[in-house]
Amino acid sequence: MTQDELKQKVAEAAIPYVRDVAIIGVGTGSTVNHFIDYLADFKADIEGAVSSSIASTERLKKLGIPVFDLNAVGTLDVYVDGADEISPHKHLIKGGGGALTREKIIAAASKKFVCIADGSKQVDVLGAFPLPVEVIPMARSYVARELVKLGGQPVWRENYITDNHNEILDVHNLNILNPIELEQIINNIVGVVTVGIFAMRPADVVLVSVGNDIITL
Ligand code: A5P
Repeated sequence: MTQDELKQKVAEAAIPYVRDVAIIGVGTGSTVNHFIDYLADFKADIEGAVSSSIASTERLKKLGIPVFDLNAVGTLDVYVDGADEISPHKHLIKGGGGALTREKIIAAASKKFVCIADGSKQVDVLGAFPLPVEVIPMARSYVARELVKLGGQPVWRENYITDNHNEILDVHNLNILNPIELEQIINNIVGVVTVGIFAMRPADVVLVSVGNDIITL
């Protein structure tokens, strides 16, 4: 199976988690794109979605699924999203697609976070995937210097602006042995909007496609 077929398979496996949910939290990325396509099959049964990015919003609307503002909806029952790395503790690195801030907000506002990924995303220790950090543009160099002090090598994602009009530093060479602690430390750097470690609010359920199997963590 190709990686894209594995993404499609795990996206389908998330459908039972949203079957009786009126308004569904929807993440961002190529795995979630498959999930959105499956959602369209039973759009008549749902009220709509809350979306974590302009890209997902456009895809949802194109398929005829209404998209609501999170402020108008309140707490969500279920949020479905992908990840760039997944630890055995269901801690995640997210933000490869740049949507980490809205993703973290929706994860925080949801009762259940269902993470979907192909098996290549599973790791023992987070950090081989460069850690995305969304920053206020004028703080970029300052935040980069602070991240160097933490042992990372930040690389500016040039020519990229987030949906929130901010910039991203991708931090290489971090061996994240204590994700909760590092999430808190990076959150506290002035100018950081969001760090792509999802450990304080981890996934509740992780579905991983490995060959023909779906593994549930
Ligand atoms: C988006 O910003 C990310 O957090 C995605 O959830 C993550 O990059 C997974 O993307 P794919 O499903 O495309 O691998």
